[in-house]
Amino acid sequence: MKVLFVCLGNICRSPSAEGVFRALTACETDSAGTAGWHVGKPPYGPMLDAAKQRGYDFSDLRARQFVKQDFVDFDLIIGMDESNVSDIENLRPNGNQTPVRLLTDYAPEAGMDHVPDPYYTRDFSGALDLIEVCANGLVADIG
Ligand code: 4NP
Repeated sequence: MKVLFVCLGNICRSPSAEGVFRALTACETDSAGTAGWHVGKPPYGPMLDAAKQRGYDFSDLRARQFVKQDFVDFDLIIGMDESNVSDIENLRPNGNQTPVRLLTDYAPEAGMDHVPDPYYTRDFSGALDLIEVCANGLVADIG
């Protein structure tokens, strides 16, 4: 199973989702941004610091932009908000059926329909709380 996490900049939410999820599973993982602003950069420093405080290190990740080929290369694509999902869907190749879901779909008990962007809210710990609950739900769903 190959799972791709997607957000806007690929420096806060999707690398965090990848970092938390890969600690829980043997699935192949990657992350990408719908925008190309931060291509080649590591995750955002304050995000890495908050994650390190709870035992995750994903400082090895580097930002890249989501591309059409990702629909072919991955079995499941997971966006952080509806805007990500819409930007992803705009690149879907004709006839491709790869599922695109919201991360929050995997934790309905959290009562959230998106992962708030800590780049703007500055609540890095709150984002990680939600991502952890959702990542556990994802593991329960796909193993
Ligand atoms: P992300 O957060 O989509 O969770 O990586 C953002 C990071 C950077 C920017 C926007 C969102 N930016 O405008 O540079």
